[in-house]
Amino acid sequence: MTFHIGAKPGEIAGTCLLPGDPYRARWAAERFLESPRLVSETRGMLAYTGTWHGNPVTLHGTGMGMPSMSIYANELIRDYGARTLIRVGSCGALQPQIGLRDVVLAQAASSIGSPSTSIFRELRFAPVADFDLLAKARAAAPVPVHVGGIFTSDTFYDERSDLTDQLQRHGCLAVEMETAELYTLAARYQRRALSILTVSDHILTGAALPAPDRETGFAAMIEMALHAAFA
Ligand code: ADE
Repeated sequence: MTFHIGAKPGEIAGTCLLPGDPYRARWAAERFLESPRLVSETRGMLAYTGTWHGNPVTLHGTGMGMPSMSIYANELIRDYGARTLIRVGSCGALQPQIGLRDVVLAQAASSIGSPSTSIFRELRFAPVADFDLLAKARAAAPVPVHVGGIFTSDTFYDERSDLTDQLQRHGCLAVEMETAELYTLAARYQRRALSILTVSDHILTGAALPAPDRETGFAAMIEMALHAAFA
């Protein structure tokens, strides 16, 4: 057990799929895993371990934002030995060619800062995805997929239109709130990480997916993540 995860040693798999929403962890475990078992519910952050085609997998919620992601990713890596960490979440699209329900594979994650920023001092570290996971996820995509840079934000209700302009001008595909820290931790501990993101809203038009559609997109991401991890 750690400060924030109640699982016993050996109850977390080497491959962890990480939705922000803990109820999504339960939903995906029940739908995709063989013999899913609740292994942690500390602070309501549900975690299930089971197998997929015989391969051990844990689904663990992370909450929203980099500080929360940082806590869970640190403990999964350092205390439980997780080797492959795949975020399965949502994002807001920043480019006109990207539609609602499309999937974005985050090749790199820009940010203004992350929980790791202070250790880098003057260095502007570039957090990137694991290439092998990225290529395999793209090959397994059942829906339109876009590969490129994203922006990891600290604010959902962002009022900085100048920042949005610069991100768009520089080809940034989408905005979300966790990936830069996940990729930075994976780099620090030599683990594999990838973020697979369904477009839930569009920053340019204000359009947003209704809740039932989010579930369909979520299933596609879980399938891509499982194929990427074990292909
Ligand atoms: N996740 C999904 N949509 C988002 C948005 N518009 N901003 C930040 N994170 C998001």
